[in-house]
Amino acid sequence: MADVRHFLDIDRLDRATLRTILSKGASLKEVRGTVDADKPLDGKTLVMIFEKPSTRTRVSFQVGMQELGGHTVILNDSDSQLGRGETVADTARVLSRYADAIMIRTDDPTKLVELEKYATVPVINGLTDDSHPCQIMADIMTFEEHRGSIEGRTVAWAGDGNNVVVSWVHAAARLGFEMRVATPKELQPNHGLIEWAKKEGANVTLTDDPQAAVSGADLVVTDTWVSMGDDDAGSRHNMLAPFRVDEALMSHANSDALFMHCLPAHRGEEVTEAVIDGPQSVIWDEAENRLHVQKAILTWCLS
Ligand code: CP
Ligand code: NVA
Repeated sequence: MADVRHFLDIDRLDRATLRTILSKGASLKEVRGTVDADKPLDGKTLVMIFEKPSTRTRVSFQVGMQELGGHTVILNDSDSQLGRGETVADTARVLSRYADAIMIRTDDPTKLVELEKYATVPVINGLTDDSHPCQIMADIMTFEEHRGSIEGRTVAWAGDGNNVVVSWVHAAARLGFEMRVATPKELQPNHGLIEWAKKEGANVTLTDDPQAAVSGADLVVTDTWVSMGDDDAGSRHNMLAPFRVDEALMSHANSDALFMHCLPAHRGEEVTEAVIDGPQSVIWDEAENRLHVQKAILTWCLS
């Protein structure tokens, strides 16, 4: 349905919309817990489908809906008919009769496409194997709180070419910052993504040299080496060891560079304790901002 406001991926939205959501997130953060915090989603219900584990996404959406005056219903794979083979199309049509929006976390990105096709209410991507747009909205909000506009700045990724970095590349194209992605050659994000970004005029580079990527960066980002659903943990650890974010790698970034990680983290693997718990790390603000920016996404979808 063309007039339904879905939040599916950052590349599906234009700069103005992303800016509207980011600034709403900042204003919702400012008024949180004050008399100015209104409840624009009074009486609204968000159904959240989880086919993979989650702590932050689950709790931040649940708390966010409550704070906006709405409610949530959670469906897990093990306790819904979706987990027993009911089609996404039928599930979408039924849930649209009960709820005002649907959030899904799934390993199968085609389920997001099906939901969009058959739901008559907004659909929000809470992570697929292909992308994690809510996370990157929170990350950008966090960068801008600490350092001002991200436009024209340089973001470096060192690690696996996974779902999180895909959404970073989408954001680089939409919001005009440089994105350098350092991964082992075997774990690069797909080339279609980079071709798309270049066509959009984005300044995105792929490398297998983490030091070159981080050199002069304003923000260094990494993520787990083994995402949910990856079944090649052993070989990944070997390939990714040179991409670990440690103090030596951070020393190549700008002296005021920030460090981010979407969490959950594995200290001593993708990032050392000294970096993730050190002075450049803004991971707790980053996690908190999931709440604020998702409240903004919800109000945008449902307004
Ligand atoms: N970063 C993130 O999405 O965390 P969860 O898997 O805990 O939701
Ligand atoms: N890349 C990770 C992100 C977790 C929030 C995963 O997909 O498991």
